[in-house]
Amino acid sequence: MNNTQDYVFSRNKNDKLYLKGDWNSLYLNIDDPWNMKEFPSGLPNVLNEFFSDDFDYFELGCGLGYHMKRVYDVAKPCTTSRVDISEVCIERATEKYPQFNFFVSSVTDRKILSIGTFDCIALVGTLWYVMYDLDRIFDNVRRMLKPSGVFAINQTFLLDQEYGNDVFEGLHGFLALLSKNRFFSTSKIISNRIFHEGKFVMDTAILLEVIHE
Ligand SMILES: C[S@@+](CC[C@H](N)C(=O)[O-])C[C@H]1O[C@@H](n2cnc3c(N)ncnc32)[C@H](O)[C@@H]1O
Repeated sequence: MNNTQDYVFSRNKNDKLYLKGDWNSLYLNIDDPWNMKEFPSGLPNVLNEFFSDDFDYFELGCGLGYHMKRVYDVAKPCTTSRVDISEVCIERATEKYPQFNFFVSSVTDRKILSIGTFDCIALVGTLWYVMYDLDRIFDNVRRMLKPSGVFAINQTFLLDQEYGNDVFEGLHGFLALLSKNRFFSTSKIISNRIFHEGKFVMDTAILLEVIHE
């Protein structure tokens, strides 16, 4: 197998996609899954405009750390931490960036609360893999954000989405789901059409702020 998607999704006998999530084999066998080294995400610039001072940044589903490094270079957070579910991925990321803190955990696990509190927590390119556990993620994130902190979700949305359509469909469906969330309100949405891995996709950064009662 040498395609990223072979490790991530599979089809059942009814030809329906299900999440296989063989993350360790993926990172053992593929040098740069999803070509993240060249992923032209708009989030680093959005964060650079949003935060005028130093801020603490935490990335959920950090992969090999390429996106986090761009946030570090462009938006200049004073501290950065990140977490990924795959031990192999975190071993490789730690070799690449020994100066940064990496943690192995699922973002749905309560144990990530002990990592600290942050001005910005970002879920980058990972929404499809955790979409059935969004309530747990929102709960973890709201507990880890500082009072005026921001939850940033960066994702490309497909016109031909084939997975998780019962949770939401496309950007519009996701925004409708967010509008019902009682802990967060949407403060900014920036969407750009980008060319990545041979096709045009909508890269979208959504900034959410905590609703204080
Ligand atoms: C598209 S990659 C993210 C890329 C990354 N932000 C970068 O800059 O390279 C998605 C990542 O989500 C991770 N992942 C999937 N499910 C997860 C979970 N429940 N908790 C934490 N990480 C998860 C995968 O291991 C994978 O590294």
